[in-house]
Amino acid sequence: MEQIVILDFGSQYTQVIARRVRECNVYSTLVRFDTPASEIAAMNPKGLILSGGPSSVYAKEAPLPDKAIFKLGIPVLGICYGVQLLAHYLGGKVERGDKREYGKGTLAVADPQCALFKGLSRELQVWNSHGDKLTRLPKDFVVVGTTENSDYAAIEDSRRRFFGIQFHPEVVHTPRGREIIANFVHGVCGCGRDWTMRNYVEQATEEIRARVGKDRVILGLSGGVDSSVAAALIHRAIGDQLTCIFVNNGLLRAREADVVREVFGRNFKIRLQYEDATPLFLRKLKGVSDPERKRKVIGKAFVDVFQAATKRAGKARFLAQGTLYPDVIESVPIAGNPAALIKSHHNVGGLPKNMKFELLEPLRALFKDEVRQLGVELGLPKEIVQRQPFPGPGLAVRCLGPVSGPKLEILRKADAIVVEEMKGADLYYKTWQAFAVLLPVRSVGVQGDERTYEYTAALRVVDSQDGMTADWVHVPYALLEKISTRITNEVRGINRVVLDITSKPPGTIEWE
Ligand code: XMP
Repeated sequence: MEQIVILDFGSQYTQVIARRVRECNVYSTLVRFDTPASEIAAMNPKGLILSGGPSSVYAKEAPLPDKAIFKLGIPVLGICYGVQLLAHYLGGKVERGDKREYGKGTLAVADPQCALFKGLSRELQVWNSHGDKLTRLPKDFVVVGTTENSDYAAIEDSRRRFFGIQFHPEVVHTPRGREIIANFVHGVCGCGRDWTMRNYVEQATEEIRARVGKDRVILGLSGGVDSSVAAALIHRAIGDQLTCIFVNNGLLRAREADVVREVFGRNFKIRLQYEDATPLFLRKLKGVSDPERKRKVIGKAFVDVFQAATKRAGKARFLAQGTLYPDVIESVPIAGNPAALIKSHHNVGGLPKNMKFELLEPLRALFKDEVRQLGVELGLPKEIVQRQPFPGPGLAVRCLGPVSGPKLEILRKADAIVVEEMKGADLYYKTWQAFAVLLPVRSVGVQGDERTYEYTAALRVVDSQDGMTADWVHVPYALLEKISTRITNEVRGINRVVLDITSKPPGTIEWE
């Protein structure tokens, strides 16, 4: 398959570059900045992209590539720090800029013939973020674009097909950036458009069949996007050789277990081993109110239940997991690279090392948005493909204080109303998360002629790109009113509804 290789110099946007290339239907792979040129050559890429990065090429610890990459005879696009590398290695000069160029700028295209700017206007809005700048062109390069602050904002050596751009084409603040990337991968590198989820289904199906042979596979199905798509894909490849284990931990939202059984059991006719472990989980959680403790208890109980379930499922050689590309990429440990600091701080699904399976991870090459497309391609319903993130420990983190069956039931009803009303207003799939939280706070109310003394529900609706930061959503008043009225009328046990108007930071999305 044709591919573009991206060398990661530690920019927070490196993964975004990889996604943009794939949005052009061209496969892309991220590799460390110091990957030997011979290894890169063995991948047979149609072109290279050098990412940005927080360093200066002159810094003592600057991440530097194998300079033989410039001898591979394939096109190179240097972005931001990548341009400085071009200059550094190919006879140009980089100096500390007196002004740091940061934020919006305008690129004046100096050479409309330049392949990168084909079909674009002569003035482009671009996003800058760099301190150093070029002060002398590398050998054989010409200027193809300038900004207010830089005479060498875009440069080209058309013979070797090397390009450098000081701005970031991959971010949304460079509105025509996608076209610049498309011009590079199609126009310059000559890539076709063979990376599609339709093709991926075929390719992955073949690969799974070849690897699994006549053996059996077990998959822990959570109902989330990744495990669901993995299940559908593997089932397509090997049918009944796949057994999915679905553990109901008693902490699921309303109808969640039903949807999984309906979709996978009845529609897909997947072998589904349904394990209702509700009593066990509730027993273990009894009286536990510390959030970290809750997580640990749930994590451990899950492992025990799952392990016992795999024994009942019979002998299998493989354990399938919905691991995604961002989990696989080794982040470049460079000071100032925020991506290096971001760790997925939770994942309770981790299984003990002593389980003797080979791993089957058919989504390892995919980004989340590709997994969703793949799900659509495989015929999974929107309810699953567009599902909002849901924490592994489930409603236990949304039921504050000690968890109990009756409290979970109250929370489930309130949450179902939130979901239903958000869907009705066509807002549910447009928000990152929308849910109810049950607070261990009771207050006095009045219903009919009666005084009540019941719990409080908090409404949490947030927008986010990746869960790391979030804004609270300005839900229309009429909708808030409807949700509040319905919850207090329909859910026995709640007599007050409050709205959480905290962003993240300083708040978190979940209350815990
Ligand atoms: P917080 O509450 O830390 O959550 O702002 C950030 C995002 O992570 C989700 N979340 C989890 N996801 N397992 C998961 O897979 C977990 O244990 C877990 N806890 C929180 C949360 O819903 C939000 O989207």
